[in-house]
Amino acid sequence: MSPHKSEDDFPGDVASEKPQQKSIPSPGAPGISYYTPVQNYPSGTAADPQPDGRPLPKLFTPLKIRGLTMQNRIMLSPLCQYSAENGHHTLWHFAHLGGIISRGPGLAMVESTAVLPEGRVTPQCSGIWLDSHIEPLKRITDFAHSQGQKMGIQLGHGGRKVSIVAP
Ligand SMILES: Cc1cc2nc3c(=O)[nH]c(=O)nc-3n(C[C@H](O)[C@H](O)[C@H](O)COP(=O)(O)O)c2cc1C
Repeated sequence: MSPHKSEDDFPGDVASEKPQQKSIPSPGAPGISYYTPVQNYPSGTAADPQPDGRPLPKLFTPLKIRGLTMQNRIMLSPLCQYSAENGHHTLWHFAHLGGIISRGPGLAMVESTAVLPEGRVTPQCSGIWLDSHIEPLKRITDFAHSQGQKMGIQLGHGGRKVSIVAP
């Protein structure tokens, strides 16, 4: 049995309700906790060789740093969203990061994330001091992995410069 969910796991699927229509399988990305189709080819990768015979642009060649290999040399900088609920990432974060990840950077860096509640730059900043912060971070990390990408996180503590008002 496949270790990951497929679209056939969803009984409400319209195609499976009509026996005369054969469902064309679209397998889920392996090792991901929810169904998201395997991308063939993943965004952020380039045809090698290029159709005009030129070599692959260096931007789209893999980058290896110690044990980590990224599919290309494009990285998303950390971008504070001021949209967390008591440190928890919200659907805003999934939309923000997910939209960029679906375009194919080799590495996406989660915004500055406070290691303690009093270290947040604003009350709506991302946090990682509760176990319940893990689940929404895992959800977006799984999505990046499903696209062959890597995720990083910027850990932070604002010290004396923290505020009580989001910009
Ligand atoms: C809305 C916004 C939020 C940002 N949040 C962070 C952050 O959390 N951590 C950080 O190191 N830089 C942050 N930055 C800086 C950016 O990551 C980036 O370094 C800066 O926009 C310069 O980008 P560039 O080097 O591509 O010109 C933020 C910038 C913006 C505009």
